[in-house]
Formats: sequence, structure tokens, C-alpha cells
Amino acid sequence: MWMALTTMLLLLAVGAAAAATSTTTTRGCRPSCGGVDIPYPFGIGIGCFHKGFEIDCTMDGPVLAGSSLRVKHLSIHPDVSLVMLPIGWKCYNASSTTEAVDSSYGETTMNKDGVYRISNTHNMLVVIGCDTMGYTASMKTDGGLASHAYYTGCMSYCNNSASVQDGLCAGVGCCHVDIPPGLTHNYFKFNAYGHSSMMDYSPCDYAFLVDRNNYTFRRSDLKMDTNRTSPVWLDWAIRGNGSISGDILSCNQAARTSEYACVSDHSDCLDSTNGPGYNCRCSEGYRGDAYIVDGCTNIDECANPADYHCYGVCTDTQGSYVCECPAGYRSHDPRKELCTQKFPLAAQISISAISGILVLALLSFIYVLHKERREARDFFRKNGGLTLKDATSIKIFKMEELKPILKKHNLIGKGAFGEVYKGDVDGVLVAIKKPIGDNVLENNQFPNEVIIQSQVIDKNIVRLRGCCLEVDTPMLVYEFISNGSLEDILHKHKSKLLNLDVRLSILQEPAHGLSYMHSQTHTTILHGDVKPANILLDEYFTPKISDFGISRLTAKGKEQTANIIGDMTYMDLVYLKTGRLTNRSDVYSFGVVILELISRKKATHSDNNSLVGSFQECHQREGTSLKLFDPEIATAGNFEILDKLAQIAMECLNLDVIRRR
Ligand SMILES: *[C@@H]1O[C@H](CO)[C@@H](O)[C@H](O)[C@H]1NC(C)=O
Ligand SMILES: *[C@@H]1O[C@H](CO)[C@@H](O)[C@H](O)[C@H]1NC(C)=O
Ligand SMILES: *[C@@H]1O[C@H](CO)[C@@H](O)[C@H](O)[C@H]1NC(C)=O
Ligand SMILES: *[C@@H]1O[C@H](CO)[C@@H](O)[C@H](O)[C@H]1NC(C)=O
Ligand SMILES: *[C@@H]1O[C@H](CO)[C@@H](O)[C@H](O)[C@H]1NC(C)=O
Repeated sequence: MWMALTTMLLLLAVGAAAAATSTTTTRGCRPSCGGVDIPYPFGIGIGCFHKGFEIDCTMDGPVLAGSSLRVKHLSIHPDVSLVMLPIGWKCYNASSTTEAVDSSYGETTMNKDGVYRISNTHNMLVVIGCDTMGYTASMKTDGGLASHAYYTGCMSYCNNSASVQDGLCAGVGCCHVDIPPGLTHNYFKFNAYGHSSMMDYSPCDYAFLVDRNNYTFRRSDLKMDTNRTSPVWLDWAIRGNGSISGDILSCNQAARTSEYACVSDHSDCLDSTNGPGYNCRCSEGYRGDAYIVDGCTNIDECANPADYHCYGVCTDTQGSYVCECPAGYRSHDPRKELCTQKFPLAAQISISAISGILVLALLSFIYVLHKERREARDFFRKNGGLTLKDATSIKIFKMEELKPILKKHNLIGKGAFGEVYKGDVDGVLVAIKKPIGDNVLENNQFPNEVIIQSQVIDKNIVRLRGCCLEVDTPMLVYEFISNGSLEDILHKHKSKLLNLDVRLSILQEPAHGLSYMHSQTHTTILHGDVKPANILLDEYFTPKISDFGISRLTAKGKEQTANIIGDMTYMDLVYLKTGRLTNRSDVYSFGVVILELISRKKATHSDNNSLVGSFQECHQREGTSLKLFDPEIATAGNFEILDKLAQIAMECLNLDVIRRR
């Protein structure tokens, strides 16, 4: 029974002790008095204040504990308090020049725990009086000539009563002086001079500390109330006094002890700037009372846009805040600069316009490509590509392979049939014939003819290597013959000598080629347009007939209408009349070629005196065509051969078709 009771009492005692030592909470403490806030470490009542910071709350408002010094303002940031302090004064006897009637040092008990220093930054010392020197003395020391660590003051002199001016505290009736840091006491003294001559307007000397921004001198102050008090700013700090746990003076020293006053999380310690000791402060982004547990709380910056600017979207964080521009906006520093749209409307419009155009361009490109492909396929089929594909003797070229060659600088000839381009395909020189004009070829005939052509391998026939069917009118690819046509050699390069042997071989070999085409292949292939321009010469002057069958091919189906294709100059008159092309027609044309070769004269059709006519006339009249022969070869030894040639030509040209050979 007793045991239980004593245990209970013991527990109660422990609880009470704990409450007494818990000085870092302000629960149950008066937060203010007489309109003045009382923040911890200041406090009213036991357990509510840090040692040295006790405040008494009186009828007239808060006073420093144990004194009658009125407290006007207390603050923990900055660490100051505004207190009304008494002034120092000395009043004189009218009949005595130096004797004082009464005086006061203005001494107080404001600093019994040493937590205050008179703020040197906020206060000044003012001395008022006519002919006086007033000063303050602070920090009593033991021994020595002077008994204080600090002395400072100023002198005021008045020539006469009129010399004192309102608003001017500059040595006439009033003087003021800055004070050093470290002053601990409110204490004033005067060096007196005779006042007898000025007792009527300046009976007393005064000296006081005052808020340097809150005192303006008036002439009437020469007779001010000696009970007057003056507002003075006091710097306070946690200074310690050596008796508790040594001299706790600076942050570094204090932080290691249990007496450390900065108990709140998110708090910082600052060494005092006026006297020893330190002060506590909430860290950046927090506010409150760093001297109490959990006294520092996060600042909701976003709720305080006036103090914490944000032109974007504000998000509060512990100890700070995030300020960002909304999506699509940007700013160098949204805390200082407005957020602007990343892409202005004009830019957005032009970007979408450009991408729209790009898409359209792409679509039309694809469409064109597709169309080209389809057309190429259609042409290929129409031109008999399916049939030709199986022919091994001929190569079917794709348009892409030939396209690079079909350029202006590769153009080597132009005629009724089309254009001729020279180029390189798979390392072989070729001549590409590109027909111009309408599709004159017969659809189903073309592939068969091409196959036949390609199978013809004769050294006197220009070889067809392949064709390209992916165009409206098929292009033909031939082997390239380097020395040009007989036409060019005979008539364009007249200076080039051609002896009879060469001419004979030029005649003999095409004749062989023609007869091969007419008889040796299983189908008769007619040329239809034999002329010097179609007889090409290679590097060894070997003649090769080109365009074999093509003119006939192109004329196919138009035979009935007698739409004559080919050069009229070399055209068989019988063919012209009947419109039927036979192998005899080629023979006729060859006869004209013989005449051209032996005379080296150009056969013309329009001229009535055409080459054929001249020869026929000459032959009939004189039995020889001597004067028509090319002088270069018309030497005595050659006459017989030349005559024989002319005779052969005449036979070729015979209008009686059957008699042609
Ligand atoms: C002023 O001084 C005179 C002479 O010393 C003295 O008699 C007189 O009582 C003094 N007056 C006052 C008010 O103290
Ligand atoms: C000083 O006082 C004397 C006597 O009252 C007067 O004559 C003189 O003008 C004054 N000087 C100034 C500068 O006020
Ligand atoms: C000056 O001090 C007086 C008290 O002496 C106070 O009422 C007044 O507000 C102060 N003025 C300023 C500007 O601080
Ligand atoms: C000054 O205060 C004292 C004591 O508090 C008082 O006796 C005296 O009358 C006061 N003087 C004035 C001028 O109010
Ligand atoms: C220090 O504080 C103690 C009370 O805690 C007091 O007795 C002592 O006089 C103080 N010392 C000084 C130098 O102020």
C-alpha cells in the first residue's frame, strides 16, 4: 500500500521536474502583453523565458523583469528590443555658478544578466545644455585611473539665448555623437560650466541615448522634463555567463553543449555582432522561432506571391519552392521573368502549313512514282515484254539503266526515225535509238521482229543488243560503231582519201550482209531503207548495215496505204508505185549506193538531174560513165572495174524488177 503511494508520488515529482526544465516550449505562455508580442526566448512567467529574458506584464504594458523599464518592442529577427531608458541630467542653483541643485546618472538595472548591448547601429548619444560637456561611461572595470572601459561624449555651447536653433543639434545648445559597440550601461556624467548667466533659458544639462532616427532637437528641450525616458534599441543574444557550463560564447562552442539554444530543426546559428554570444535563426525557406522545438516551419511561398515571385506554376517544397513555366511556355527565370510561349501562334501556323505542304508533296511524289511504274509496266506489256522476256538473245533494259545516257551531251545523231545517243552500258559502248513521235510500231509484231533481229549475227549487220520497253515507243540498243556512216565519210569528210580497194570492200560486204538477210535467215528480212547513212564503218572500215528491218517494221500495217517510209532518194520507183516492199527494193537502193560510191557525188531526189538519171543517160548514150567517176579513183587501170560496177548498178536500178539481181 505504502509502496504504491510513494512510487506514485515519485513519478509525479519526476513529471513536474521534467516540465520545469522544458524551457523550449511556449505552450501556456502569454504570447503578448499590452500589444507587444513576447517571442521566446522572452517570456512572462516561470518556464516561459530563457534565462535573462524575463518580461513582467504590468498595467502599463510589458517591462523588463525587476525594473520599471517599459518595453516597446521585442523581436527575434532582427534580435533587438526597444526599451524606454531614463535620461541623465544635472540642474543648477541660480545663485551659484557651478553648484548643482539636483542630478541623475540615469543608471538602470536593465542588464543584470548581461544579455543586452546598447545597439551602436540604431542609437546615438545626445547632450543638451548651454555650456556643458556630457558623456556616457560603460563597462565598469576594477582599478585603473578610469573605472570604465568606454567613455564618449560631446560639448554644447551657447553664445546667447538667440543662438540656439530648432532642428539643429550640432554643438549649439545640443550635440550628438555615435557610440561604440559593446556598451552595457545607461550612465551619464557632466563636466559643468557656469550656468548663472543663462539660468532663464538653460537651467539644466541633459544627456541620453536615443533611437538615432527618432530624435529632433527643440529649443524647448533646454528645459525638458527630467522624468523623461528615451527609446533605446538593445541588441540581445544568448551570451552565457560561465557559471553553467563554461563560457558559452560562440555558435561553435555552443553547438556542442546541451545548453545550445537553437533547438528547432531547420535553424541556423549566428555569432553576435555586438558583444559575445550567438543568435538563432530559421533556415532559408522556413520561418518561426528557432529557439523552440519545431519552431521553424516551412514557408508556403506559393501562398505569398508578393514576397516570392513566380510567373509560372508555383509548387511549394520543404524549405523552398519550384517555379516552372507551364508546358509550351518558357522563361530564363520564371521567378523573375514572364513565361512566353515557346512557339508563337505565327510560328505554329507556319510549321503546320509547312508540314502540310510537305505531306502533300510527298503524296504527289508517291503518286507520280506509282503512276510512272504503272505506265512502265503497261508499256512493257504492250510492247511485248512478256514475249521478249523469254528471248535469251536479247537484253531487256530497264529505263533506269538507260536514263543516264539519254542526256543532251550524249546525243550523236538525229534523224527521221528519232534520236541516237551514245553511251556505256555494262562496260560496252552502245548506241541507243530513241524514236520520236507517235507509236508507229505494231504491238504484237514488234517483239517477234526484235527477236529475229537479235538472232542475226553477221559481221556486216549492226548487232541489236537489246531494247527498252518501258516507254511508249520502245528504244533499241545497238552495238556502237566507231567510224560513223558511209554518208559522212563520202560527203562530209571529202578530204579523206578512199582508194578503190576500200570502196570495193565497202560495197562487197554490205552486199553480203543484205543477201544474208534476204536469204540465209529462216525469215526474209527486208531492210527498206538502204542508203549510205545506214552503212556504218567500224574502226577497221568494216561496213555494217544498221537499222535493219526497222523502217519496214515501222511501216508495217501502213503498207496498204502506201505510206512510204525511208529516203525517197534511194527508193525503188516500183515500190513507190505499187507500195509493196520486196527484197528487190533493197537491191534498187543498193544500186544507188554503188553510184554514189564510185562518183562520190550525193544522190538527191528533188533534182531532176539526179545521180541515177545522169548515169542512166550517160550509160545509154556512151556505153560508159567515165566522166561521172570520182577522179580520185578514175585512173586508167581502174576503168574496167568501174565500168563493171556502173553496169551492176544499172542492173540493180532496172525498172523491170525481175531483171534485177
Ligand atoms: C542656492 O545656493 C545658495 C548659496 O550657496 C543657497 O543659499 C540656496 O539655498 C541655494 N538654493 C537652492 C534651491 O538650493
Ligand atoms: C555673441 O554674444 C554677444 C553678447 O551677447 C553678441 O554681442 C555677439 O553678437 C554674439 N555673436 C554671435 C556670432 O552671435
Ligand atoms: C519615436 O519614439 C516614440 C516614443 O518615444 C514613438 O511613439 C514613435 O513612434 C517613434 N517614432 C519613430 C519614427 O520611430
Ligand atoms: C518626477 O518623478 C518624481 C518621482 O517619480 C515625482 O516626484 C516628480 O513630481 C516627477 N516630476 C515631474 C516633473 O513630473
Ligand atoms: C551567471 O549566472 C549565475 C546564475 O545562473 C549567476 O549566479 C552568476 O552571477 C552569473 N555570472 C555572471 C558573471 O554574470
